[in-house]
Amino acid sequence: MKEYRLEALKRKIKEFPSIELICRPTPLYPLEKLNQQARGTKILIKRDDLTGLAFGGNKSRKLEFILADALKRGADTIITWGAMQSNWCLQLAAAARKFGLRPVLLLFKSYDVPAIYEGNVFLEYLLDAQIEIKESEERGKSVNQDKALELLEELAARERAEGYRPYLVPVGGSTCGGHLDKPLGALSYFQAMLEIYEQAAAVSALPDYVVIASGSGGTQAGLLVGAKALGLKTKVVGICVSDKKEEFLPVVKQIAFDLVKMLELEIQLDNEDFILFDNYLGAGYGLITAEIAGTIRNLFKTEAVLLDPVYTAKAMLGLIDLLKRNYFSSNDRILLVHTGGTPALFAFKDYLLSQLSAGQ
Ligand SMILES: Cc1ncc(COP(=O)(O)O)c(C=O)c1O
Repeated sequence: MKEYRLEALKRKIKEFPSIELICRPTPLYPLEKLNQQARGTKILIKRDDLTGLAFGGNKSRKLEFILADALKRGADTIITWGAMQSNWCLQLAAAARKFGLRPVLLLFKSYDVPAIYEGNVFLEYLLDAQIEIKESEERGKSVNQDKALELLEELAARERAEGYRPYLVPVGGSTCGGHLDKPLGALSYFQAMLEIYEQAAAVSALPDYVVIASGSGGTQAGLLVGAKALGLKTKVVGICVSDKKEEFLPVVKQIAFDLVKMLELEIQLDNEDFILFDNYLGAGYGLITAEIAGTIRNLFKTEAVLLDPVYTAKAMLGLIDLLKRNYFSSNDRILLVHTGGTPALFAFKDYLLSQLSAGQ
């Protein structure tokens, strides 16, 4: 299996057009107070919640490539879908506005989600994004991709009839679909792995594990392919936030294989490289449990870092539990990538408060 030098991989990335949306590198540092309780294991955090675009998050990185593709194709409108409190939709709308595109969002609402103009939706409203709301069929489950793409096509037909040139992109910017015919979202996390490598190597702190919340799969696939191409031993651990492992694993694999192909990398990906845990799903996608609320409070109290209730709190919950179960060795370095999502905290405020007060 081939090992690539950093500069060679950077050159490969440069072959794909990108726009500048984020401040990089995002900070990477140890969580000192947490580490005092962790008996030798060192936990570090990479603050991709501080990318600098509309409250930050992993989607800012993905959009640097995806929006560049939309602009290259002459689009004037960008259409996507997501859950009601989708961080992706907010990031896409903000990035679109910055580059002169009209954001059109199809949001799927389950019957018990918080009031409409809260959190991310409030910010999308401020951005004057065009918002369409549909009832989703199942509570705590992700929306069926094929069905959502069908609805997106209908929306796009309407936009075309009005004279616009829409660019369609699936939720999360991870899987190919609509106009996104290459794994450009995952490419950005391949690039982020190079950034992690440079930051960590400078302080001799290469992580043994990178832990992330995995939702549409692009972040995990990109980090994994990046680590493999660099020849690192670093393992990438995905904590499922919406789907069970058996449904989700093939999605992550497909994105990773597509990325290897797109970058023409001579590397091998084995089954054991794809690590996913689905036992921290709690009650389902976007549903708040007492453990999630407690995890958010604990990290805010100890490290002054705010997690979000749908993604990063589940990742942290998983990390801490795996630590307790001795999944990691005592001297391992574990890097949690904070992938953003904090505006949703405000939308889920009542759920969080009730879980916190019930636990007291
Ligand atoms: C805050 C946050 N973290 C993690 C993820 C998961 O990233 P991916 O969709 O690339 O798996 C998302 C996706 O929406 C997110 O919003």
